[in-house]
Amino acid sequence: MKLLPLFGLATTVIMTAALAQQPAAVTPSTEATPAAVTPLPPSGPATAGDAKAGQAKAGGCAACHSVDGNSTDAQYPKLAGQHERYIQRMLTNFQSGGRDNPIMMGMAGSLSQQDMRDIGAYFASQHAIPGVADDTVIADGGPYQGKKFYEVGENIFRAGKPANGVPACMACHGPTGRGNPGPAYPSLAGQHAAYTVLKLKFFRDGGVWGQHKDVANDKDANTIMAGVAHDLTDQEIQSLASYIEGLHPADAK
Ligand code: HEC
Ligand code: HEC
Repeated sequence: MKLLPLFGLATTVIMTAALAQQPAAVTPSTEATPAAVTPLPPSGPATAGDAKAGQAKAGGCAACHSVDGNSTDAQYPKLAGQHERYIQRMLTNFQSGGRDNPIMMGMAGSLSQQDMRDIGAYFASQHAIPGVADDTVIADGGPYQGKKFYEVGENIFRAGKPANGVPACMACHGPTGRGNPGPAYPSLAGQHAAYTVLKLKFFRDGGVWGQHKDVANDKDANTIMAGVAHDLTDQEIQSLASYIEGLHPADAK
């Protein structure tokens, strides 16, 4: 008898773990290659970021990204709630030219790996403020006639476009778009739609971050999103971006 409650507890733990896994497990993943792990910058000599130290180092970022990372101008991505290691990876890429942006190359130029992790930890500790998804009914006589604008993206986010080999976004970015800090799938939830549109078009055109000029088989290059976005139409990209901007953490199921 004494064993029973313990057994019950163990079952609950196992069931909870199984439930937590479920959204990813039921996702129809039709991509040709299995999801690869994102290459991350080597963590040494930098150790886990210190959010307090990062706050002090992020002062120069506020002009564009705002103090808490919730930028108000859509040309500057929101950093609030973004994962520490993803921020470190992007700053490393801006610094080395593996992600081509003259403004951010200048901003990242003098940062050490430890600065990047501290700044990453600071923005990771902030909360993204979501926007609003566009629910205008589509009336263009096209394939999505009659649907609400964001629903096209919602459907692709959750189920992909199996006929075209586009995997469900939530398989890697999570059902709520919060990403996964482990292998550094970025958080997308609440991001400005205009920024997301630009990035998805970049990926659709074969854009790759971490690829350095004249380096064959660059180990920093991440081709995942180029493989994901190749078959999205402009309308699907805009709808995905609208859905993502409206994703609230509370949309959790
Ligand atoms: C003068 C404006 C400006 C300032 C100041 C600035 N940034 Fe940026 N940042 C940008 C722009 C523009 C982009 C988008 C680049 C792109 O589209 O590739 C960006 C992108 C980023 C990204 C990539 C976000 C993502 O979701 O992929 C990170 C991380 C970032 N900035 C961090 C910082 C940090 C840290 C600082 C301070 C040290 C900083 N930025 C200062 C303009 C700025
Ligand atoms: C197999 C995993 C995987 C799938 C599926 C996936 N992504 Fe991604 N996504 C990534 C990774 C990894 C990155 C970061 C790339 C890097 O670090 O160079 C990323 C980056 C992004 C970015 C850039 C974020 C930023 O802050 O700049 C956007 C936008 C994005 N994904 C949207 C999507 C959408 C929309 C879908 C579904 C159509 C999707 N992703 C499906 C793995 C995935």
